[in-house]
Amino acid sequence: MATVDLKDVRKVYPGGVEAVKGVSIAIPDKELCVLVGPSGCGKSTLLRMIAGLETISSGTCAIDGKVVNAVGPTERDIAMVFQNYALYPHMKVYDNMAYGLRNRGTPKDEIDSRVRSTAKVLELSHLLDRRPRELSGGQRQRVAMGRAIVRNPKVFLFDEPLSNLDAKLRGQMRVEIKNLQRSLGVTSVYVTHDQLEAMTLADILVVMNAGLVEQMGAPLDIYEKPASTFVASFIGAPPMNLLAIAAKPDSQADTLEKFFANGAGLGIAAPVLAATLGFRPEDADVLGEGEKPSGSLKLPATVEAVEPVGAESFLYCAAAGGRIVVRVAGRAVAKPGDSLEVLVPAGKLHWFDSTGKRV
Ligand SMILES: Nc1ncnc2c1ncn2[C@@H]1O[C@H](COP(=O)(O)OP(=O)(O)O)[C@@H](O)[C@H]1O
Ligand SMILES: [Mg+2]
Repeated sequence: MATVDLKDVRKVYPGGVEAVKGVSIAIPDKELCVLVGPSGCGKSTLLRMIAGLETISSGTCAIDGKVVNAVGPTERDIAMVFQNYALYPHMKVYDNMAYGLRNRGTPKDEIDSRVRSTAKVLELSHLLDRRPRELSGGQRQRVAMGRAIVRNPKVFLFDEPLSNLDAKLRGQMRVEIKNLQRSLGVTSVYVTHDQLEAMTLADILVVMNAGLVEQMGAPLDIYEKPASTFVASFIGAPPMNLLAIAAKPDSQADTLEKFFANGAGLGIAAPVLAATLGFRPEDADVLGEGEKPSGSLKLPATVEAVEPVGAESFLYCAAAGGRIVVRVAGRAVAKPGDSLEVLVPAGKLHWFDSTGKRV
């Protein structure tokens, strides 16, 4: 049982770089919190402060209600899994997994039963006598997980643990990690720059940007109501379409305005403060011949490229002085050069002000 509470945590590195600029996150017991954001936004720094591997410049980190700022990493009862596994190359899998327990003076019988039961859960039982170089990437990653699990820690910390694996294996391991974390019920913090991994793993999703939290919440809530253009373009793939509407009368962007209120569109008024209109590729549709939609934004577009992916196709289009992507099911009828009308239901439009905040 463990909660993790960060209160206004900051990190200024000795050289003066302010990597984390005041972050507060409360992680309930047994939940998996994912920190996601572009490279350099401070994810690893934050994780390393929770682990005790970096000092906290100001603010507090509490585990189970107890502030641990001054507690060393080995006393925090935390296990960390890294991208590069950090396995001991000269040790067999068994010894890699047993190492931490031996260091703590755990009795031999208990080490043996814990290593073997963990190996069974991770399907590593037949590999216990191998050395890391005799394993595949996925198996090595499992050993690294096993080494963390045998210790039965209060908190798991993961720093991009799947980045070195190919896409298929990454998908499998993602499911395994989620199932393991659930069944073990260990409070976890997971760092990734991959929005898909973040969406699928998180109980609590924290989107970070330049050392700050942009938005925090349940993954689907964030997907449905991104708090800023940054979040809108980071969560979801392909990202949300964003078009400028706060235009000087003579600029290109004002072409969009005629599709609201009184133009060719269907009477949707842009909120007063809106500077940017957003809609997701999957919420847009192509108007069929003779169809008469109501209550939707209707945007003339020219197809520039078509990307078939099998179950769906993406139409890359020029529209309203910008570029948009439309997702259609199955095989696309449209081809490059076609003119078409893109429809977006009013309820699926997102509005942002000139600072990028949701209106
Ligand atoms: N040991 C360090 N000394 C100085 N600056 C660092 C150190 N580690 C990271 N940084 C800087 O802090 C910022 C955040 O880095 P990091 O936490 O590694 O980001 P992320 O994990 O999100 O990619 C970056 O600007 C990085 O260059
Ligand atoms: Mg990192």
